Amino acid sequence: MYKLFFDLVFKRMDPERAHHLAFRWIRTAARIPVLRTFAAAALAPRHKELRTEALGLRMHGPFGLAAGFDKNAVAIDGMTMLGFDHVEIGTVTAQPQPGNPGKRLFRLVADRALINRMGFNNEGSAAVAARLAARLAARNPVFRTTVGVNIGKTKVVPEEEATGDYVTSTERLARHADYLVVNVSSPNTPGLRNLQATEALRPLLTAVREAADRTVTERRVPLLVKIAPDLADEDVDAVADLAVELGLDGIIATNTTIARDSLGLRSAPELTEETGGLSGAPLKERSLEVLRRLHGRVGGDLTLIGVGGIETAEDAWQRILAGATLVQGYSAFIYQGPFWARAIHKGLAARLRNSPYATLAEAVGADTRKATR
Ligand code: FNR
Repeated sequence: MYKLFFDLVFKRMDPERAHHLAFRWIRTAARIPVLRTFAAAALAPRHKELRTEALGLRMHGPFGLAAGFDKNAVAIDGMTMLGFDHVEIGTVTAQPQPGNPGKRLFRLVADRALINRMGFNNEGSAAVAARLAARLAARNPVFRTTVGVNIGKTKVVPEEEATGDYVTSTERLARHADYLVVNVSSPNTPGLRNLQATEALRPLLTAVREAADRTVTERRVPLLVKIAPDLADEDVDAVADLAVELGLDGIIATNTTIARDSLGLRSAPELTEETGGLSGAPLKERSLEVLRRLHGRVGGDLTLIGVGGIETAEDAWQRILAGATLVQGYSAFIYQGPFWARAIHKGLAARLRNSPYATLAEAVGADTRKATR
């Protein structure tokens, strides 16, 4: 039914307008108690076998919403209602910014993919922190969801001053975050991805860790870094080693890609040549490959979150076997609609039941263990 609706309505609309419309519906539905309760009861992960612990947090299931969908933390309850067990908000920057001008989101329907050059359009970390604080202060938070907070650099701040920008956001947001993500991998902020080089990343991650510890003293906020699929393998290794050395909690692999070689000839060239980050099905193989590499190198020391091209429960299961404790998705939600997260959790529960593993934790990285036996 959603497929028909997508073809008749969303596909004919500008992608960003369709996003805002769907977003408004989700937020509105989440404000109606009967609808919210009914939807959550039908869609939330209820499979005992999927309960798991990650980053010191108790989760009902491993599948969550990737960053970029809810940049300003306005739809946490709505997305939870739809069955995502954790929601990563952001990317949030220290200063509010409009993002890139003009058309900046493109659907490559034939490739089940998206290209975006949104450029971190967001209200800034002060406004987002206030919203998160208000949500937590509400006497009855609607859902006790795990909320990840993903931070990035304000566009007008020069690369050399990036650390200060991230530190400002950390000071404002860390106390509201179940986990914090340093995003150095979006292709749409000039120079951002240079921060993945270890000489730039070391002082940045050290400063963010210190800022989080300074502002939140009653617990240790888990800190992760999100990387690009376009890093050379040696650079993936270098970031992984650095993350271990600095005592980070995990790595999110991966963000969108600037490569286009995984696209067939299905979508029109004027679409595939749009500047920006490619996500969805064509990203699947490389994201999985990066995850495998990370697990082989630092799997025992860090929590890995697998994201990029996940469309089905089988895709999510393959990420778990490859070493991901948690998995996330974004693009396939656009194509598959409101029952998608439920289908992933349901399919994962069935796969786990039919596997030799008693718990989800046992399945994490099982592929690599098999290969080295
Ligand atoms: C993203 N993504 C993203 N990631 C991030 O860390 N910060 C962000 O602000 C955004 N913004 C964003 C906007 C849009 C329109 C898309 C499609 C994606 C990347 C996202 O979190 C994810 O890493 C990739 O999209 C790969 O996953 P999927 O989409 O293939 O499931």
